[in-house]
Amino acid sequence: MDPLDHTRLRRAHEAAGLAESDLPSDPLLLLREWLDAAIESGLDEPNAMVVATVGPDGTPSSRLVLCKGLDERGPVFFTNYNSRKARELAARPGVSLLFPWHPLGRQVRVEGNAGQVGAAESDAYFATRPRGAQLSAWASAQSDVVPARAVLEQRVVELAQRFPEAVPRPPHWGGIRIEPRTVEFWQSRPDRLHDRLLFRREASGWSVVRLQP
Ligand SMILES: Cc1cc2nc3c(=O)[nH]c(=O)nc-3n(C[C@H](O)[C@H](O)[C@H](O)COP(=O)(O)O)c2cc1C
Repeated sequence: MDPLDHTRLRRAHEAAGLAESDLPSDPLLLLREWLDAAIESGLDEPNAMVVATVGPDGTPSSRLVLCKGLDERGPVFFTNYNSRKARELAARPGVSLLFPWHPLGRQVRVEGNAGQVGAAESDAYFATRPRGAQLSAWASAQSDVVPARAVLEQRVVELAQRFPEAVPRPPHWGGIRIEPRTVEFWQSRPDRLHDRLLFRREASGWSVVRLQP
């Protein structure tokens, strides 16, 4: 889809708006719907999301990852469990996610707690990755300093010999699921009088309030 088509879609979303009466009782159903709409729109990397973590001294940091799973339990991404983000989440599981669908006039913010998915789930996803990406997952001590690119490339050559056939999942690589506590849907509207609907998890289900834009 070319950018003009995204503009047409954005205008259609802006005209329709987001009303309380449109909402399902579970925000993850609406998030799934918006993710599917982003995928169908042909947006580049429609499942990219910004993950923000907090370091030991309180400094926030953020980076893009790909949302590779989304069901009633929450979004999942895959990464190296020794990376900066994963170490920060292990120490402080509070996390903020942002789906930046601005070409479509939308964004979704999720806040919640992060935890590792089960080994079987990580194995199943790892097995779907291309061989080159599987070898890179072994080769890269993600977030560590490396003296030169050639070091990484040499490691890949050695790993290809070590694993001539199937590449097993590295034990330090797997999924992280975010269990949402709040989910905010932002829909752009004319004259910047945007719609913002915030779901909050309560003991009895989800509550919804409308925020001023
Ligand atoms: C579009 C895009 C998608 C990415 N997807 C992932 C991903 O799914 N998992 C991952 O670990 N890193 C992914 N990255 C790289 C991260 O942004 C980041 O550089 C890396 O995870 C190291 O982050 P950290 O040092 O803060 O842990 C992606 C980067 C971009 C630009």
